[in-house]
Amino acid sequence: MSCPPKSDDLVFFVNGRKVIERNADPEVTLLNFLRKNLRLTGTKYACGRGGCGACTVMVSKHDPVSAKIRHFSITACLVPICSLYGAAVTTVEGIGSINTRLHPVQERIARSHGTQCGFCTPGMVMSMYTLLRNHLQPSEEQLMEALGGNLCRCTGYRPILESGRTFCVESTGCQKKRTGKCCLDLGGNDSSSLSRESDICTDLFVEEEFQPLDPTQELIFPPELLRMAKNPEKQTLTFHGERVTWISPGTLKDLLELKAKHPEAPLVLGNTSLGPAMKSQGRVHPILLSPARISELSMVFKTSDGLTIGAGCSLAQVKDILAEQVSELPEEKTQTYRALLKHLKSLAGQQIRNMASLGGHVISRHCYSDLNPILVVGNATLNLISEEGTRQIPLNDHFLAGLASADLKPEEILESVYIPHSQKWEFVSAFRQAQCQQNALADVSAGMRVILEEATDTIKELSLSYGGVGEATIGAHKSCQQLIGRPWNEPMLEEACRLLLEEVSLPGWAPGGRVEFKRTLVVSFFFKFYLEVLQELKKLVKVSDSHHYPEISDKFLSALEDFPVTGPQGVQRYQSVDSHQSLQDPVGRPIMHLSGLKHATGEAIFCDDIPMVDRELFMVLVTSTKAHAKIISIDLSEALELPGVVDVITAEDIPGTNGAEDDKLLAVDEVLCVGQIICAVVAETDVQAKRAIEKIKITYKDLEPIIFTINDAIKHNSFLCPEKKLEQGNIEEAFEKVDQIVEGEVHVGGQEHFYMETQRVIVIPKAEDKELDIYVSTQDPAHVQKTVSSTLNIPINRITCHVKRVGGGFGGKVGRPAVFGAIAAVGAIKTGRPIRLVLDREDDMLITGGRHPLFGKYKVGFMNNGRIKALDIECFINGGCTLDDSEQVTEFLILKLENAYKIRNLRFRGRACMTNLPSNTAFRGFGFPQGTLITESCITAVAAKCGLLPEEIREKNMYKTVDKTIYKQAFSPETLIRCWNECLDKSSFHSRRIQVEEFNKKNYWKKKGIAIIPMKFSVGFAATSYHQAAALVHIYTDGSVLVTHGGNELGQGIHTKMLQVASRELKLPMSYMHICETSTATVPNTIATAASIGSDVNGKAVQNACQILLKRLEPIIKKNPGGTWEDWIEAAFEQRISLSATGYFRGYKADMDWEKGEGDPFPYYVYGAACSEVEIDCLTGAHKKIRTDIIMDACCSLNPAIDIGQVEGSFIQGMGLYTTEELKYSPEGVLYSRGPDEYKIPTITDVPEEFNVSLLPSSRTPLTIYSSKGLGESGMFLGSSVFFAITDAVAAACKERDIVEDFIVKSPATPEQVRMACADRFTEMIPRDDPKTFKPWSIPIA
Ligand SMILES: Cc1cc2nc3c(=O)[nH]c(=O)nc-3n(C[C@H](O)[C@H](O)[C@H](O)COP(=O)(O)OP(=O)(O)OC[C@H]3O[C@@H](n4cnc5c(N)ncnc54)[C@H](O)[C@@H]3O)c2cc1C
Ligand code: FES
Ligand code: FES
Repeated sequence: MSCPPKSDDLVFFVNGRKVIERNADPEVTLLNFLRKNLRLTGTKYACGRGGCGACTVMVSKHDPVSAKIRHFSITACLVPICSLYGAAVTTVEGIGSINTRLHPVQERIARSHGTQCGFCTPGMVMSMYTLLRNHLQPSEEQLMEALGGNLCRCTGYRPILESGRTFCVESTGCQKKRTGKCCLDLGGNDSSSLSRESDICTDLFVEEEFQPLDPTQELIFPPELLRMAKNPEKQTLTFHGERVTWISPGTLKDLLELKAKHPEAPLVLGNTSLGPAMKSQGRVHPILLSPARISELSMVFKTSDGLTIGAGCSLAQVKDILAEQVSELPEEKTQTYRALLKHLKSLAGQQIRNMASLGGHVISRHCYSDLNPILVVGNATLNLISEEGTRQIPLNDHFLAGLASADLKPEEILESVYIPHSQKWEFVSAFRQAQCQQNALADVSAGMRVILEEATDTIKELSLSYGGVGEATIGAHKSCQQLIGRPWNEPMLEEACRLLLEEVSLPGWAPGGRVEFKRTLVVSFFFKFYLEVLQELKKLVKVSDSHHYPEISDKFLSALEDFPVTGPQGVQRYQSVDSHQSLQDPVGRPIMHLSGLKHATGEAIFCDDIPMVDRELFMVLVTSTKAHAKIISIDLSEALELPGVVDVITAEDIPGTNGAEDDKLLAVDEVLCVGQIICAVVAETDVQAKRAIEKIKITYKDLEPIIFTINDAIKHNSFLCPEKKLEQGNIEEAFEKVDQIVEGEVHVGGQEHFYMETQRVIVIPKAEDKELDIYVSTQDPAHVQKTVSSTLNIPINRITCHVKRVGGGFGGKVGRPAVFGAIAAVGAIKTGRPIRLVLDREDDMLITGGRHPLFGKYKVGFMNNGRIKALDIECFINGGCTLDDSEQVTEFLILKLENAYKIRNLRFRGRACMTNLPSNTAFRGFGFPQGTLITESCITAVAAKCGLLPEEIREKNMYKTVDKTIYKQAFSPETLIRCWNECLDKSSFHSRRIQVEEFNKKNYWKKKGIAIIPMKFSVGFAATSYHQAAALVHIYTDGSVLVTHGGNELGQGIHTKMLQVASRELKLPMSYMHICETSTATVPNTIATAASIGSDVNGKAVQNACQILLKRLEPIIKKNPGGTWEDWIEAAFEQRISLSATGYFRGYKADMDWEKGEGDPFPYYVYGAACSEVEIDCLTGAHKKIRTDIIMDACCSLNPAIDIGQVEGSFIQGMGLYTTEELKYSPEGVLYSRGPDEYKIPTITDVPEEFNVSLLPSSRTPLTIYSSKGLGESGMFLGSSVFFAITDAVAAACKERDIVEDFIVKSPATPEQVRMACADRFTEMIPRDDPKTFKPWSIPIA
């Protein structure tokens, strides 16, 4: 084998230390390099596509043009290390640590309770840190912008933002300041004297305790790099990898020479387009040219007629340059720049804008591009350069369509982009609509420009350009041509829409789907443009002449305004602890998450942060590409021959049981869905394993039937389990006596857990006695242990599962980790070597399944006054191909369906459909969030029919007195009613309802909606044995205490709460205590940490253990009451008193008899209510969340900061379920949405502008630990208040437009759903397709 040619040394700095990489591989990303080579594991992998921000670090570079150091955030997963020559990288470990000095950003995010699982935290910290390196006192807008590219699935963002706000110009970190009163005016300034309104606290942290930001403490830019930058080496640097060579020339001349020599080699700037494309298409470019050191590409020239921006400028720099131009030039000259600026604010997140270059953006020609349509209409020109010289080509549709005659020649590069100034009587606008407002690729984007004959309304020139409606950006030339000379008036508008729909046509099967929505946007955007120009015209002409132009009535002006991005404000209220409670007793206080500081410094170790074990191998899974097929053959030969490949694990290698008969770990003979695991490659490295899976050849023979949708499953009678049914009263008789009956349908889409830490496991076989150590990210280690045991056919006692912490679970890590653990264990046993299995985000989303999609039919009978007399609901959930938790989900769904309402005659039926999709599983709320949407939709249907408001119907039918549920469990609704009334009161609901109506009367294109939703959520499992829990507490001879219990730390703060319990019981400060991990060796036979019950039951077990220990110590304490804890422990040891105790809790009584339809299935209920107000844009379907007020009954919260965090986080997750999170499947059952680009979980900009959460005061429950309640799941359903506020707004629009309601409810209420529901002249104009005539791009499965 020939040696690769010698590479140059790659020199850069990481956290102030010089790195010299002698064999830099261009295919290695900074993320991998940090994690594997430098063992800096604070920077996390969560998506690998630049879409989540978990891998954010700061890069500092000397900018030769400005001669300044530029600090900017980037996503390390997309940065090739070779691009870092001469750069300084700062990671979360580089800015502070617990042992040295915490950086204020780290301290504040932790102490403000901005971390739950902590997996997103290092990325958040680095985004904020970079912001502060550039702006010591940033504005709130800058803070929102900086965090817009960082996703968090746990917190709901509010506390993260709150921590960042403490650095802002006008800090509002002390929550009370926003209400005009400061906590410090009301009492002392330490944490024990939090502000009070009677006994209500509103502060969860004390800003004054934070250490100040001291910029002199920051790492300086390495002088060596500065010297290197000032005396740049002009010679070309070359880095040879195994497959790719990276060439970085020092001069433009060299670059052009290289481009001439390697015309096929792409230029790499930000790698944000090239990188993801190479990954998804598996494409390798043998040579990559990096122009990073060529200053000519970063030049900016301002001339009297326009602006020339270097192709190498980042989009963030372009934004600053344009902002400067806009501030310097008269408005008429900056129309195009303003339009570009508008889109640059929402294009991706800050990190991508920092990385992506203008040249890369233009040349990538993405069909969804936000900027290209504006550059096209703005008549931008591309300045090209090659060895031959320079030339200009227009940035037009021909170029964007890639026509050879209008394209760059292979040896040419783009040097800069010229964007001319606009002129008087010229108007340029930009439009875009995406699934959510920020950090989401547009469904349709548009640039529009018109020049009118001077001082007239006659069209002189018109250009309209659209993105997202074809394979490339499309110009509507013919339409524009035909409109020249027409006056800018209504008939022109009408004609323009007709022409546009003809010219910008989309076939029904168009990739990306949402075809009718996109068609509607094409004309809706033009209508907006039409109004905008009219408005501008009115400003330009003299008042006396303005009658020339059509009048826009005030009612229609609302079409013009975009929704601004504003940071959420709000107050969090909770009951303070009793004034007699000892200061040392932490129960009921907002104690910071135990791992908060470790999350913030990157020191918290997650599964994949565990260093490589000796001889470790990497495993990658091979999955089915067919939805239902017979496996004819599996050819592993080519894969096995690849370098580094050690083995391929198939079902034949399993020594014990291969899962269940109908739910196999590894497929045998037949596959039941795309994404089913067939085999697994084991190789020396992850790269080798990933390359090998491409070489495995599996042949299939398709089998019938193939079922994806609930409808098809019903037709084929394809179900996973028998129907579950509950009934009370006499429903048939009741229907005969009611005034009215409505029937309707509800469709609720599925939901991806999108825990930030994907599924991962490390299995280490030991040399002796077939023992195995398993480190796994799971909610249920005992289940992993049991499954591995049966798979390997070895006793459970040889297997130890360890869970230090989990980067989010939400139900998705209850069942599946056992599958991954077992397959990895087979690999470990077969090879005799440790195995690491870390799922890519794409694989995780493809394989693991999520929340069950639901289809429900209802028939509701009611009196004209809104009293519901009979309700019949039949619902079906899409369970996927195996049973998993589908039967229990159906049961819970049926049990909880009545929600807060007493309806005498009820029939609830539910079934789980078997389809050829990956098996759906447990997900926060377990059926309740989907099912109860049907019940609440019935309420809105009844309200519509009675001409009453939904809240009146809700109140009228709510439980009022002590009563029995449909399954005959007695309960008192007193707290439910209190929550409802408090919510009405705190949200000023009734006065705001009037304001909403007033607004709606005055605005045609924007509508507001408001909704208040009550909630009765039952906690726990419907079986007593599932509530048992155990704990093990050791006291060591130095007095320190080690607590272990059966719960897993998923971010919900269970370990913090357990130490609070232990602290109260042992009357000992928390500082004496420690929790190391959850392990099956210390607490055996545990139950999954799920069903909101983890802290309750484990808390009881910890309490029991501590009480046993204290009882043993009592005689010693009595004998020496003045002694210290250490004295007592020493004495106990001397007296041979055991200092270790097991605590046990037998479980709450819970049972259900499905035969009789009766039981006490749940230990207790959590009550709550939420009110949300939104505003929708009827023309685009976008919405803005104006305000949410939540009242939640936590009883005596163990830790209000944690519990409020659970309420906020689950509410935002619920809001995602009901508004933006949409899974898309191909007609062949392939999941398209496999990453943050296609699947939109809420971002920081989606949080309601005002977000208030109150824990209901003075509420108690005798049953639970210290009268607290478990709040893990309940908030999820309250997210539906946003959904119903949106439907309220849509209903207002429909009423005005005389659209008759069809009682078909679809969730999520995406912009597409909202736009198409607000039917108007534009939706009527669009061509509709006969669904029978084409195969759609995607299919609805609910
Ligand atoms: C997470 C994420 C979110 C995004 N969101 C949005 C969004 O909301 N809206 C939107 O419009 N876009 C979005 N994008 C796309 C983004 O704008 C483009 O990926 C980016 O602008 C490409 O620039 P780059 O410097 O990274 O290009 P690279 O990936 O480095 O290069 C891309 C291509 O351009 C060529 N090239 C680059 N420079 C030159 C040059 N000077 N001369 C000749 N050829 C050149 C390269 O050869 C290569 O083929 C998103 C991307 C990501 C990863
Ligand atoms: S892992 Fe890099 S952005 Fe998600
Ligand atoms: S704390 Fe943000 S993802 Fe868990």
